[in-house]
Amino acid sequence: MNRRDFTSMTLGGLAGMALRPRVALAQGDLKVNGNRINAHIKALSEFGKNPEGGVSRVAYSDADRAGRAAVMEWMKAAKLDPVIDAAGNIIARRAGTEPSRKPLLFGSHIDSVPNGGNYDGDVGTLSAIEVAQTFAEHNVVTRHPLEIVIWQNEEGGLFGSRAVSGQIKPGELQTVSNSGKTVEQGIAFIGGDPSKLDTVKRKKGDIAGYFELHIEQGGILDKNNENIGVVEGIVGIKQWEVTVTGFQNHAGTTAMADRHDALLSAARFVEMVNRVVRSISGRQVGTVGRIQAFPGAPNVIPGKVVCSLELRDLDDSKIDSMFARIKREAKAIGDLNQTTFAYTELHTNVAAPSDARMRKIISDAAAGLGLTRRLMPSGAGHDAQAMATLGPMGMIFIPSVGGISHAPKEFSRPADITNGANVLLRSVLAADKLLD
Ligand code: GLV
Ligand code: MN
Ligand code: MN
Repeated sequence: MNRRDFTSMTLGGLAGMALRPRVALAQGDLKVNGNRINAHIKALSEFGKNPEGGVSRVAYSDADRAGRAAVMEWMKAAKLDPVIDAAGNIIARRAGTEPSRKPLLFGSHIDSVPNGGNYDGDVGTLSAIEVAQTFAEHNVVTRHPLEIVIWQNEEGGLFGSRAVSGQIKPGELQTVSNSGKTVEQGIAFIGGDPSKLDTVKRKKGDIAGYFELHIEQGGILDKNNENIGVVEGIVGIKQWEVTVTGFQNHAGTTAMADRHDALLSAARFVEMVNRVVRSISGRQVGTVGRIQAFPGAPNVIPGKVVCSLELRDLDDSKIDSMFARIKREAKAIGDLNQTTFAYTELHTNVAAPSDARMRKIISDAAAGLGLTRRLMPSGAGHDAQAMATLGPMGMIFIPSVGGISHAPKEFSRPADITNGANVLLRSVLAADKLLD
């Protein structure tokens, strides 16, 4: 007898029926309350609301803390008992009938980028709570314990999920986040305890599996009129802080030929990064998204520039080879006017393939609901890639209208969100049967 037969036999067995009186009967038709998810999305959009119609709810801001408090109330209404772990993640455990099994996790994040939208992270988070609420309302009890998770500071570099996967490097807690607080200060601000970060670490095999529902953030599903994306893998992301050092001097008296202008070198660097990344075939991307010149006055030649560099690809080694070439070319740029480039790594999200069983579970769940689906990569980073180091990971995408994301105009249709949540619900139930 293979494991699948054994599992279905156990589930159909009398002992199982006694423990889960309605699960076997109700599972096939079980549906989330889509209106409730969409109402929660609207209510969450009030926290950090910006005039453009999106949110600025960056991690560790007052809006983030208030939004988390509201979401914890909704978790309680879903018969969950959320706790904040030492890393600042919100986690609620729902007991299973077989407590010795490793937990099955699902969730997302609610922090946003500066001037972001109302769907990135929120859709997966609020749908995860809705799935738990639907289970509670229909007395569904799974074999595995379930953990509904809201990761903290996803946008700043998967800090909450990487704390759990043990990937935070020494010094990373001193990273200054978009809130202005260091990650260490921020974790304390949202109710965690950064001195006990080690206590949240889990190791490979400590989870039965992880699902995350998310908006696509690109335009492929929308353009092709497809309902569900089954994620095949998530890009690796590396970010650096780049410091260009020149010589600060008077903008009126220093001849053009005598300048060591750090901003001029930085401008050449921005152009070069774009050229290098585009010169290679493939889907890799490279971005300089933040730049600041010092001292920052119209009549002073900048002596220092600090900017960011981000590289992404599904293949981590390609990121490394692009970075090596960028450093070489930057050195040549610096030599033109005696400026220097130095790099401090900000963080790394390693590329992560999804698990073949999880892809099939998601695809079958979507098919069972009559939804069209596409296997596709994720160009955005997700907490799921940290979870992939601990156990089988699966991600469900729904369409982003016009492919707009990380912007106030980000939008996903309520019906697509409901579809995604129903796929999540069915996937959790199927994984509960199939996974160890
Ligand atoms: C997260 O949204 C990222 O891809 O940066
Ligand atoms: Mn996200
Ligand atoms: Mn995002």
